[in-house]
Amino acid sequence: MSTHEELFERARRVLPGGVSSPVRAFKSVGGTPRYVARGEGATLVGEDGERWTDFCLAWGPLILGHAHPEVVEAVQKAAADGLAFGTTTRAEVELGERILQAYPRHDRVRLMVTGSEAVMTALRLARGHTGRAKILKFGGCYHGCADAMLVKAGSGLVSFGIGDSAGVPTSAAADTLVVPLDDDAALEAAFRDHGHELAAAIVEGLPANNGLLVQRPAWLKRLQALCREYGALFILDEVITGFRFGYHGYDRVVGLEPDLHSLGKIVGGGLPVAAVVGNHKVLDQLAPEGPVYQAGTMGGNPVALAAGNKTLEILARGDTYAHLAQLGRTFDALDKGGVQWVRQGAIVWPWLGDGPPPRTDTALHPSMKPVYGRIFAAWLEAGIYMPPSAFEVGFLCGQHSAEDLAKLVRVAAEAVAG
Ligand SMILES: Cc1ncc(COP(=O)(O)O)c(C=O)c1O
Repeated sequence: MSTHEELFERARRVLPGGVSSPVRAFKSVGGTPRYVARGEGATLVGEDGERWTDFCLAWGPLILGHAHPEVVEAVQKAAADGLAFGTTTRAEVELGERILQAYPRHDRVRLMVTGSEAVMTALRLARGHTGRAKILKFGGCYHGCADAMLVKAGSGLVSFGIGDSAGVPTSAAADTLVVPLDDDAALEAAFRDHGHELAAAIVEGLPANNGLLVQRPAWLKRLQALCREYGALFILDEVITGFRFGYHGYDRVVGLEPDLHSLGKIVGGGLPVAAVVGNHKVLDQLAPEGPVYQAGTMGGNPVALAAGNKTLEILARGDTYAHLAQLGRTFDALDKGGVQWVRQGAIVWPWLGDGPPPRTDTALHPSMKPVYGRIFAAWLEAGIYMPPSAFEVGFLCGQHSAEDLAKLVRVAAEAVAG
């Protein structure tokens, strides 16, 4: 029995499904989840000493790779100075300033712990600000695990074949309207019928939780225009996209001007940090300045912020983004065999269906799971770790090489060719 099997057997006796977050259980690819002992650069090291080139990268935060020496040093220093204070700190001022450099249209940031919390806070702010209750979201977009957002969400749910989560009361989801992505008529109808009741529309500008569903900029701009016309806030959920395409948000990539951005992942550099970014006219509605409540014992934790601050400091130097841009060009030039890959910046996803890459989650089909399962097994065997789900994306980081990418696509092509 491998150490992985041994640990998973023990895990199942104490943790539901043996895991702390569902997709990690390998349910949609089969086999035993791998237990990781450490990470170095772009490499994951397993409990049995295996080495995998990592394209999952903790689901996105590790744009600098694992255990970046400067980030680790900053975290160690912060930890030695004290793990938590529950007071104001210099680090939160600095991280707020660093984040706002990337979002020059805005002037306020509230720091918190998880992306789910950031989304929940953005929605509460929108409701407090507008005095309206309804929220518009889009099919296949995942915005974390707050009750109101677990309606037609991302791949964690798709992989398990449960449309919505049990335990979400009808009342919690009753004010969430869901419209398909990329559907002009449905978008117009939603605003025509409910526009004046909407507190906000929330969207992943680049939906990346149900495959990689690249949206038409014109459709996103129309969504923004309708929000303006009907007085709803436009929330861009950037938990994945924030700081991924450069030292800025996805708004800059497609030319949007959202009212609020939810951030997570990269802003914590691997430790739990998330944020809501916006204008003081909205953000100053938050307690203690205004009537919208949000708080957290761990909000602005100094050790987590040390990782976030150092990560953004390194990213601001620009060389990581230059390297990622080069990797992107290398990736595009590779012979992909029979696999159609979608790439946007440093995000890659093998599209296993027929025809052009989809823009909506409705194009995804459960029949892709066994094919992906085969590729996934071949990757593991060859020393590559991609997310254990056909509908999750892979990430590139500053530590990947051209050879790493060549191997990723070659092994996939061979596995598909059989
Ligand atoms: C777009 C998006 N929003 C929100 C979240 C929730 O973030 P967290 O898992 O940190 O709660 C995620 C997580 O993957 C995400 O991808």
